[in-house]
Amino acid sequence: MVNIRSKGEIDRIGKSGRVVFDTLNLLENYIVPGSTGEELNRLAEEYIRSQGYVPAFNGYMGYPATLCVSINDAVVHGIPDRRQFRDGDIVSIDCGVVKDGYYGDSARTFAVGEVSEEVEKLLDVTEKSLYRGIEKAVVGNHVSDIGHSIQEYVEEFGFSIVRELVGHGIGTELHEEPQIPNFGEPGRGTILKEGMCLAIEPMVNLGLKEIYTKPDGWTICTKDGKPSAHFEHTVVVTSDEARILSNGTLDG
Ligand code: MF3
Ligand code: CO
Repeated sequence: MVNIRSKGEIDRIGKSGRVVFDTLNLLENYIVPGSTGEELNRLAEEYIRSQGYVPAFNGYMGYPATLCVSINDAVVHGIPDRRQFRDGDIVSIDCGVVKDGYYGDSARTFAVGEVSEEVEKLLDVTEKSLYRGIEKAVVGNHVSDIGHSIQEYVEEFGFSIVRELVGHGIGTELHEEPQIPNFGEPGRGTILKEGMCLAIEPMVNLGLKEIYTKPDGWTICTKDGKPSAHFEHTVVVTSDEARILSNGTLDG
């Protein structure tokens, strides 16, 4: 079953989305050579708690941190550690928060200093593919229209879509129905209705789509060792356009 959220609930999800947005903006200032995932994780936790919110990932299925910090060939779910970022790295930061049971979730990939032209393109295309997907999150569309649109856009540039990890409904749980693959045929799956809240999150590899999980049990990496990017927003379906709840456009 896919939840339909009331105006009051959307407001709460939006407030959590707002805190995630502000957290990512804060962290952006520290995406420089020499910073570490551990430092970012500490800053994020402090900030989130100072706003009266709680980090949503810590403890989720045993995940051990506030943020996921995934460097270069790490696609998602990297555990923050003491490695220093270097010029030319890319760092994907995924953040979720909860307050009074309502969740927000968003991710961005940042460049550390100067990155190569093809990596720059990877970030640009991945972010734009998220917006291609968000455009399809309108009443009457099928859930698979989102992923179809993302895939079509990404593959045009010769990049590849990760298949094993998907977006998700969000609201009173971090992960709710429906699953939102970032690939596939249009016109399949749940028909979108006003008030559905979705976390759309393309993961795009510069090289081949295949991935593996590191021995830490969490970090997902590309098999070919090439970089991967991840952008995510929490949105609510409306009749004319999806409203983004994690981009700071909401009062909160
Ligand atoms: N933002 C991730 C997602 O959308 C959540 C990280 S999973 C966790 O699925 F276990 F690390 F929390
Ligand atoms: Co998510």
